[in-house]
Amino acid sequence: MHAITIREYGDPEVLEWTDAPDPRPGYGEVVLRVAATAVNRADVLQRQGLYPPPPGASEILGLECSGTIVELGEGVDDRRVGDEVCALLTGGGYAERVAVPAAQLLPVPAGVGLVAAAALPEAACTVWLTVAMEADLRAGEVLLVHGGAGGIGSNAIQVGKALGATVAVTAGSAERLEQCRRLGADILVNYREQDFVAEIQARTGGANVILDNMGAAYLERNIDALATGGRLMIIGFQGGLTGRLDIGRLMAKRATVASTALRPQSVADKGRIVAAVRENLWPLVENGTVRPIIGHAVPLREAGEAHRLMEKGGTFGKILLTA
Ligand SMILES: NC(=O)c1ccc[n+]([C@@H]2O[C@H](COP(=O)([O-])OP(=O)(O)OC[C@H]3O[C@@H](n4cnc5c(N)ncnc54)[C@H](OP(=O)(O)O)[C@@H]3O)[C@@H](O)[C@H]2O)c1
Repeated sequence: MHAITIREYGDPEVLEWTDAPDPRPGYGEVVLRVAATAVNRADVLQRQGLYPPPPGASEILGLECSGTIVELGEGVDDRRVGDEVCALLTGGGYAERVAVPAAQLLPVPAGVGLVAAAALPEAACTVWLTVAMEADLRAGEVLLVHGGAGGIGSNAIQVGKALGATVAVTAGSAERLEQCRRLGADILVNYREQDFVAEIQARTGGANVILDNMGAAYLERNIDALATGGRLMIIGFQGGLTGRLDIGRLMAKRATVASTALRPQSVADKGRIVAAVRENLWPLVENGTVRPIIGHAVPLREAGEAHRLMEKGGTFGKILLTA
């Protein structure tokens, strides 16, 4: 097959369309012919040599895809060659073919095309795991989504609204905030011009749940933006890895600081997350409440161009890579 491989760690031009070994299905796995995959921040870090794949994972980039099953491994008896699916991957999506545990497959939701379905698995699983399963966001609560216009954020706005929350977002421009508003966001904060702590406290009395992509840079301000009993859920470190935490301020609010990470989880745990997404979130996708938001679609062979777009910023939602 062909795949995007990394010549050496570095800038987007290190991504090359080359020959690569065909994947073989292990026990409980299927092989997909990839229709589309999508770019995630982790791909950029992996390309730079800052985020090695977990042991046993493909060296090829790509944490999600959609496609058609072309081969079944031993022990897979509930799938058929020819089934169209999308999948949460531990790697390997930037390729013509990928092997994936059957437990990590999701059906292509009714009303979403095969190609567009590639934009769903990583955001859907991250957001559902973090906001619904771990933070237990309840109707009537306030959810603050940092980076509301990004791939994860645009999904989180929709999920937060579907769960009955008031959704506040941060974004870097008025135009991006308007896009968030059209998706359902209730409270809009321009992080370049406004103090999100002051805005959230003044307008809501504090966020019950914060979905945070910034890590260290926002740690103390996030605690300040929480309501009593609030849950700060850290999923990224775009603002650095090492921060300062005032335990007194944390305890005064009886607040929780937690983190989630999808990729290093076992196949069994990913399977449980995927099953929960299928049961709870997929019906919302099928009835149109939650949509894949796709800002750009780029041919897979031009993955370097897609990485440049992600690093430049400004894409609303996901960047798709089409086969
Ligand atoms: N833990 C996990 O399992 C997991 C899984 C997937 C993703 N993630 C993480 O989730 C984050 C988002 O990923 P993505 O794929 O959605 O990336 P993305 O589409 O590139 O979105 C990045 C977002 O960061 C926002 N941002 C930049 N500077 C900011 C600031 N100072 N304050 C608030 N927001 C800021 C951007 O907002 P503007 O464009 O408006 O400036 C943009 O919306 C990344 O950190 C990624 O590593 C974690």
